[in-house]
Amino acid sequence: MTEERSTVGVGSARACANIALAKYWGKSDETLNLPAVPSLSITLDALVTETTVTVEPALTEDVVLFDGKPRDGDDRTRASELLDRVRALSGVHRFARVETVNHFPTASGLASSASGFAALATASARAYGVDASLEQLSAWARRSSASAARSLYGGFVELAAGVPGDDSLAARVVAPASHWDVCIVIALASLKRKKTSSRDGMIETAKTSPYYPAWVQCAPAYFDEVRAGVLARDIEKVGTAMEASTFAMHASALAARPAVRYYAAATATLLDVVESLRNDGIAAYSTMDAGPHVKVLCQRSDAERVREAMLASGAAVDVRVASPGPGVQ
Ligand code: DP6
Repeated sequence: MTEERSTVGVGSARACANIALAKYWGKSDETLNLPAVPSLSITLDALVTETTVTVEPALTEDVVLFDGKPRDGDDRTRASELLDRVRALSGVHRFARVETVNHFPTASGLASSASGFAALATASARAYGVDASLEQLSAWARRSSASAARSLYGGFVELAAGVPGDDSLAARVVAPASHWDVCIVIALASLKRKKTSSRDGMIETAKTSPYYPAWVQCAPAYFDEVRAGVLARDIEKVGTAMEASTFAMHASALAARPAVRYYAAATATLLDVVESLRNDGIAAYSTMDAGPHVKVLCQRSDAERVREAMLASGAAVDVRVASPGPGVQ
């Protein structure tokens, strides 16, 4: 066994969540958690997770606290699995206390696994004294949650489809946050926690949906369009490809048995608001993830108008505006 280093102790990190413009849904390798399709996201300044990992010799297992409250079950298991991989590299086999605080608009059930695992990978490498590049941290975060690989980086970020067996897959920057003055307006349709996690939802879709193969076939073309549109700062190109990616992903999920359905009545109302904004000449486009919320891509100069329209619909319990943000710190 490697001799334990004296530098181990405490590590902290701060990471932002991200919203995919071209969606990841489905895995090419479940064991290594590799995505079946390429995805592209914006890292968002308004959704921040802070994590501190403290190696504590007295612990007999890892302790995971979310907003001060102990977490068991899947959350703790996934955090421990990431810590196990860092421990194996460091040669330090002591357990740790993981303290995570989400600075999200509300207790919304908005996806926090992306920022959470990006922050955890970074903080645990520090705490266990492992020197890791951003690329390595991104690959470790991906193994825990593929969308988390993208949150290591700021701005516009891509994650390629994974080749089965390739555990080195990491995300890459497409353009920095300063590249394009767009916003994501996040309209929360409910404050309840989601019923089906994205992990379970995509695995069920792959197993039982007759439309899953079609999704995997179409997704790379949506990704290419989104990527080219981001580079050209062409909101119509990005927006229409993003909506196509979103609805194709949800259509494949809806065709699973039983259906994997994330939208609620309020979701449909919010989608209508975005469509009528567009009829009024505002470049606003919708996306949805594994929950009922609607996230709207628009120009910064239109963000306030979009926010007001979402609020005025009465279908949103809260609406926040987020801008392209930084990578992990
Ligand atoms: C709909 O990254 O949460 O938000 O890798 O199983 O942890 P796991 O899944 P996760 O899935 C995110 C799916 C999505 C689309 C996206 O962010 O690309």
